[in-house]
Amino acid sequence: MLVALLLLPTVLATSSPKRGLIHIPSPAHPADDAIWLSPPTDLTWYYNYAAAPSPALPALHFVPQLWGAPSSDSDTAFLDAVRALLAAGTNVSHVLAFNEPDGAAGSGGSDVDPARAARAWNREIAPLRELGVRLGAPAVTGAPAGMAWLRAFFEACGCEADFVPVHWYGSFEGLASRVGEVRAAWPRAEIWVTDYITRYSYFGSFRSDVSNVGPNAAMLTQDGELTDIGSWYLGRGATGNVPKGGKKKSGAVARGAAGWAAWVVAGVVVVALVVV
Ligand SMILES: *[C@@H]1O[C@H](CO)[C@@H](O)[C@H](O)[C@H]1NC(C)=O
Repeated sequence: MLVALLLLPTVLATSSPKRGLIHIPSPAHPADDAIWLSPPTDLTWYYNYAAAPSPALPALHFVPQLWGAPSSDSDTAFLDAVRALLAAGTNVSHVLAFNEPDGAAGSGGSDVDPARAARAWNREIAPLRELGVRLGAPAVTGAPAGMAWLRAFFEACGCEADFVPVHWYGSFEGLASRVGEVRAAWPRAEIWVTDYITRYSYFGSFRSDVSNVGPNAAMLTQDGELTDIGSWYLGRGATGNVPKGGKKKSGAVARGAAGWAAWVVAGVVVVALVVV
C-alpha cells in the first residue's frame, strides 16, 4: 500500500493523450462541469455510461457505452444511436459495452448474465466494426468472478473485442496483477501491441460528499474545489483541499473491505482500456 501511495502523484502527474474522464453529471452543481474543461487540463476523452454525449463537454472526445443489456432481444437503440452520431459527423472511434455486468445493481453493476450480454453485444456492438469503430469487451468488476464472467461471455459470443476494459479499485500491485491476468487470458494482446494500456479514466469526477467510493477518491471537495487527486489528474499541482465525506452508499460498503487507506489509492487507474 505504501508503494502505491508513493506512486500515485507520479502516475497522475504524467501528461497523456490517454487520459479520460468518467463524466458524472452533478444536477445540484452544474457549474462543476466547467472545472474539467478549464485550462490547464490533461483530459482528452470521456464516457458517461450512455450512448449520447454530455452537452457540457463538447471539447472532449466522446466514447459511447451500452451500459446494460436491453430487456428485449430485438432492441437496437444503442446501435441506432451510435449510427446516428456517425451519420451526423461525430468522430466515434471506440464504444464500451456493459458496465460491471457481473456486479449487482445495488453496487453500480448492470447485472447481466453472460449469455444475454453476448446476444446484445452481437446485435448492438458487433455491427459497428464495419463502420470503423473499435469495440470494447464488457467492463467486468475487479473481483475474481469478473474474469470468469468474461470467459463465459466470450464463449457464448464467439466474438472478438478490440480492447478489454479493466476496472480496479485498490492498490497499484493489484491492478498490475489483473492486467497480467487479462493479457494471459487473451494472449493476442501480446502480439498486437507493445504499449497495451491505451486509455484510462479515473473515478470519480464528483464532490466528496456524494462519493459512493469514499470521500478520498473524489476529485472535488464537498464545496466543489479540486482535491489533490482531482488537480493531479488534470495535470496540475496539489491544492491541499481536503475532501470531507458524507454518505456512504451501498457500493462503497461493498468495495470498502480494504479499509480507508484503499480509498486514497482507489482507482489509480480505475478503467484501463487494454487493446487485444
Ligand atoms: C477520431 O478520434 C480518434 C481518437 O481520439 C483519433 O485517433 C482520430 O484521429 C479521430 N479521427 C478524426 C477523423 O478526427
